[in-house]
Amino acid sequence: MFKSVPHSETLLSIAACCGTPTYVYFDDILSEKINTLKHHLTGLPLQLLYAMKANQSIPVMERMKSEGLGIDAVSPGELLLALKMGFPKEKILFSANNMTDEEMHLAKKHGVILNVGELSRLEKLGKAYPGSEVCVRLNPQIGAGHHKHVITAGAESKFGIPVEQIEAIKTIASTYSLKVRGLHQHIGSGILDADTLWKAISVMLSTSLLFDDLHFINLGGGLGIPYKADESGLPMHEFASKIVAPLQSFIKQHPAKHLQIWFEPGRFFTAECGVLLATVNTIKPTEHITFAGVDSGMNHLVRPAMYGAYHEVVNLSNPDGPLHRYDVVGNICESADFFAKGRMVQQLREGDLVAVLDTGAYGMSMANSYNMRSLPAEIFVDAPCGEWRVIRQRKTAESIAENALNGL
Ligand code: LLP
Repeated sequence: MFKSVPHSETLLSIAACCGTPTYVYFDDILSEKINTLKHHLTGLPLQLLYAMKANQSIPVMERMKSEGLGIDAVSPGELLLALKMGFPKEKILFSANNMTDEEMHLAKKHGVILNVGELSRLEKLGKAYPGSEVCVRLNPQIGAGHHKHVITAGAESKFGIPVEQIEAIKTIASTYSLKVRGLHQHIGSGILDADTLWKAISVMLSTSLLFDDLHFINLGGGLGIPYKADESGLPMHEFASKIVAPLQSFIKQHPAKHLQIWFEPGRFFTAECGVLLATVNTIKPTEHITFAGVDSGMNHLVRPAMYGAYHEVVNLSNPDGPLHRYDVVGNICESADFFAKGRMVQQLREGDLVAVLDTGAYGMSMANSYNMRSLPAEIFVDAPCGEWRVIRQRKTAESIAENALNGL
C-alpha cells in the first residue's frame, strides 16, 4: 500500500515545465496542518512559533506569518530573515546553540528575547545586560525522537540546562536582576507517543512553579508525522486530550498572571506539504539488486542517509505498473546515497518521474551542493487557485563553476 500522492496531475505538469530535481510545496496542505494544530489546542492561551529550520522558503514563511505564527530562530541568518520578513520581534525566540557574544548582541539590538541553554551564557547575558528579560531552555531529562541523532534532552544531550540546576539559574538571575519570562524545552523530533510528550511537559510545569514572573512556557516542537502508509503519526486527539485540560487547570493555579503556552513545531507543519520530484535516468539490474538511479540524491534529501529515514517513493509516470523491488539511488559519489533500499515501487523505466513524499521538512533546508551539483528548483503551489510559481531556480553547471572561480 502506498501513501497517496498529493495533486499528482499538478506534479506531472510542473515536472514537464520545470524539469527535475525540484521540490514542490502545496499551500493547501500547509494551511491545513497549521489549522489542525490550532484546532486541537483550542482553549489554551496559545502562541505558535514555527521552527524555520524545517523549511525556510519564503512563501512557507509568509503563510506562517499570515496565520499569526512567530518564529523559533537558531542562527543570525534565521533571525534576520524573520525580522526582514516582518515577523514581530515579540513573537521571535532566538535559540542559538553555543551562542556567541556577537549573536547575543545581535538579538538584544533587535529586541528579541534570548533562549539560553547554558549557565555560562546566562551569566554573560546578565553581565552585559543586567535586568533583561530572558527565556531559559531546560533539559527535563526526558528525551525522544525518531532516531538517536534527533533526541535533544536526557543525560546525553548537549541541549538545555539540566532541571537539577534550577538553583544555579535562580542565583544567576537574581545576581543580575534577570527576569526569567519564559521556560523552554524541546525534547526531540518526530515523536509519535503522546505519553512521552506529556511526561516532559509535566516536568516543565512543576519546574515553572519555581518562577513567579513567567510570561510563557514553550513546550517545543517534535510532533511526529506518518511517513509510511500504515503509520498514524502522533495521535492528535490523544495528544490534545492529554495536555489541554491539565494545562488549562495548571494555568489557573499558576502564580503568574496571563501565562501563555507556546509550541514551536517544524516538521508537523511542513513535512507533508512537500514533494521532491526526480527523474529516473539509469536502470541497472545486477544479480541481487536492481538499482534505479535518479538525477537527485543525498545532497538534496539527506534524511535516508543520515537517519535511515523512510520516504515513500512513487512512480508518477507509471502509477498502475506492476511492483518491482529497487534500490532507488542518487547521483552522488557516496554509497550512503539512496532514497530507498529494497523497496517495492511501480515498475521504473529510464525517463520516469518519481515523487519522494513528505519532504517539506528538513529536505531543502538540509540540502547542499556536494559534488558541485546544483540545489533543486523549488516551486510553491498557491491555495486555493492551485497556480504555481518558481521560487528558486536550479543553477547551471556553468554558473557553479564561475562562482567557484570567483570565490562565491
Ligand atoms: N525547537 C527546537 C529548539 C528545535 O531544535 C527543533 C528541531 C524544533 C523546535 C522543531 O522540531 P520538529 O517539530 O520539526 O520536530 N533533521 C532532523 C530533525 C532535526 C530537528 C532539529 N531541531 C530530521 O530530518 O528528522
